[in-house]
Amino acid sequence: MSLATLPKIELHLHLEGAAPPAFIRGLAAEKGIDLRDIFTEDGGYAYRDFTHFLSVYEAATSVLTGPDDFARLTTAVLAESAAHGVIYTEAFLSPDFCGGGDLGAWREYLAAIREAADRAEASDGIVMRGIVTPIRHFGPERAKPIALCAAETAGEFITGFGIGGDEMAGKLKDFAWSFDMAREAGLRITAHAGEWGGAGSVWDAINDLGVERVGHGVQAIEDPALVDHLAETGVVLECCPGSNVVLGVFPSWESHPIEKLRTRGVRVTVSTDDPPFFRTTMSYEYGRLADTFGWDEEIFAQLTRTALEAAFCDEATRETLAKKLEPSI
Ligand code: ADE
Ligand code: ZN
Repeated sequence: MSLATLPKIELHLHLEGAAPPAFIRGLAAEKGIDLRDIFTEDGGYAYRDFTHFLSVYEAATSVLTGPDDFARLTTAVLAESAAHGVIYTEAFLSPDFCGGGDLGAWREYLAAIREAADRAEASDGIVMRGIVTPIRHFGPERAKPIALCAAETAGEFITGFGIGGDEMAGKLKDFAWSFDMAREAGLRITAHAGEWGGAGSVWDAINDLGVERVGHGVQAIEDPALVDHLAETGVVLECCPGSNVVLGVFPSWESHPIEKLRTRGVRVTVSTDDPPFFRTTMSYEYGRLADTFGWDEEIFAQLTRTALEAAFCDEATRETLAKKLEPSI
């Protein structure tokens, strides 16, 4: 079994977070922006902990100043994903970083991103869909125009609504207005929870926002009743084990709960979150899961089936993907 070439479905990828450091350094140089502090000597991203990670992330993102920058970013990110066997990816897109939540500007950024995605689909066969994402630590008021951007552009390409950022900031239920607006526009719902906020934050995402998937969600392992609830209801976890280990949510791959959750019947999937920040790729994640937990072809096939079922895409796209996956799942 070649893990690198196995076709993969990724449900949790932040577009800006997937920017290769050399790409960000190049744009910074073009624009005369000094970003030396955010890079390590060997050219990676430098940060101390999760809070610092978020500020380095925002500093890196600050060089992406127009639709064309996002088009170039999308092209670079999708080429890298396709090289690791990804045939379908859902990217978190943040209108906060694409025109500051202004609907007219967002439409222009989105058109550029979508054109780049269409080109990548034609050249590399990778399909992308977008999940619009307000940033939690920017607060619930700033999320409202973001929800409006999402609702106004919901359709074949923008298919979901989520929330990222600092999980310890504010309460999820304060964002309910924005989530209701997105849901009424037909968008599918996910939210980052259970990465830092404990099992209680996963309950909040379920009870206050009505999510059908949870970004990370892995701290659910702390609450056996929640694990049972996830298994019974089929809420899907977008697990990103490499991200969790590098950021220190769990001290090692061995202690990551993905295998326990899976064997207790929770529908888990695997993604990279912000791959260059965590020096990971989808092939690397698969390799570590095979080495750490002995995952074999059948388990990876089950994982891919779950991701396909949980993908926020229309049924025609799901069928096309299923055909591409036929020999492996
Ligand atoms: N934004 C980008 N990566 C994130 C993560 N791991 N958690 C929350 N927000 C994020
Ligand atoms: Zn994330």
